[in-house]
Amino acid sequence: MKLNKQDVYKALEKITVPGEGKNMVESGAVTNVMVFGDEVVVDVTINNPSLQARKKTEVEILKTIHAEVYEKAKITINVKVGAAAVSEKPKANEIKGKPLPGIKNIIAVASGKGGVGKSTVTANLAVTLAKMGFKVGLLDADIYGPSMPIMFDVAQEKPLAVNIDGKSKMKPVESYGVKLLSIGFFTQPNQAVIWRGPMASKALNQMIFDAHWGEIDFMLIDLPPGTGDIHLSIMQAMPVTGAVVVSTPQEIALADARKGVAMFQQDSINVPVLGVVENMAYFTPEELPNNKYYIFGKEGAKHLSEDLKVPFLGEIPLVQSIREAGDVGRPAAMQEGTPIEAAFEALTKNVVQEVVNRNTDLPPTEAIKITTMAGCSPVNKQ
Ligand SMILES: Nc1ncnc2c1ncn2[C@@H]1O[C@H](COP(=O)(O)OP(=O)(O)OP(=O)(O)O)[C@@H](O)[C@H]1O
Ligand SMILES: [Mg+2]
Repeated sequence: MKLNKQDVYKALEKITVPGEGKNMVESGAVTNVMVFGDEVVVDVTINNPSLQARKKTEVEILKTIHAEVYEKAKITINVKVGAAAVSEKPKANEIKGKPLPGIKNIIAVASGKGGVGKSTVTANLAVTLAKMGFKVGLLDADIYGPSMPIMFDVAQEKPLAVNIDGKSKMKPVESYGVKLLSIGFFTQPNQAVIWRGPMASKALNQMIFDAHWGEIDFMLIDLPPGTGDIHLSIMQAMPVTGAVVVSTPQEIALADARKGVAMFQQDSINVPVLGVVENMAYFTPEELPNNKYYIFGKEGAKHLSEDLKVPFLGEIPLVQSIREAGDVGRPAAMQEGTPIEAAFEALTKNVVQEVVNRNTDLPPTEAIKITTMAGCSPVNKQ
């Protein structure tokens, strides 16, 4: 019997690498094959460092070569554990830790102070993530003033009901590649909605759990302004991967942003802060795009992030067209080739990177961490 390399490779192509859907040769796991008479030496690199995985790989190679090539071949297998197993960072679009079926990451956007541009930043992050190819959901949790239906030009729409496995589910409204649900779809315009925290979190729970979101890489939550009870309820109701805190450079906004960061870091919430965004960082007149006027002070949010030891995610200028774009329902980051698009792209990339870092370093956030009232879920708490 004359053994040859090609036959060995062909046989090894019949072994699939678990979790990769590729065969050993295709995935690059087989690094070398040597044949001397009736002896075969196979070098393989595997990503699973466990002894069991090693053994399993060896047995499969032995069996396959004996069955497919030559039943009396003398086989030596050198198994190496790949560097990937030790240092592999998940790719941005296959991030670890699935807190909810189908929803990979939940990012809460908060501010402390109102009117600093939370919703504007959230809407633009959402469309930028969608442009990058991610599957994006957006939950407008601002029970005081939901703004997403207008910002996405879907104020006249209502989510439809769909039947999924015999259960009726809400179908998010889709706009610019972003799936959207908002408290605003369920209230009349101009109707002040005064909800207590538990009621709001119940409504939000329904929008997350009783909706047909499908696969989502990033679910953004636009929170109401402030750091009150309502935030506590929302944070406790769902496993938020991380929080983004928006601030403008003024002292007064920074003081509130500091409270916002502290809110996420307190023991009863314990949501990792992905970083701080400086919105309205400087004013740029449309006709003088290279001029920067630091009308609210310079780099306040940047210094705050350094002070609090949380990442600085980026700065967004104060530009008239950002406001106009929000008002007409087409987020400014969609204006291709503009500095605004570039600013939101830089910000979004940093957010994705921080999510990847967070998921590499920390375990998934637990949905309900508090135990202020033993045995009561925050949703039912009175
Ligand atoms: N970078 C910017 N350039 C110009 N205008 C902006 C910018 N960011 C936000 N705005 C405008 O400022 C106003 C407030 O923004 P936005 O509604 O996003 O703030 P918010 O923090 O969500 O407010 P609230 O606390 O009421 O929810 C809006 O009219 C918006 O268009
Ligand atoms: Mg808002």
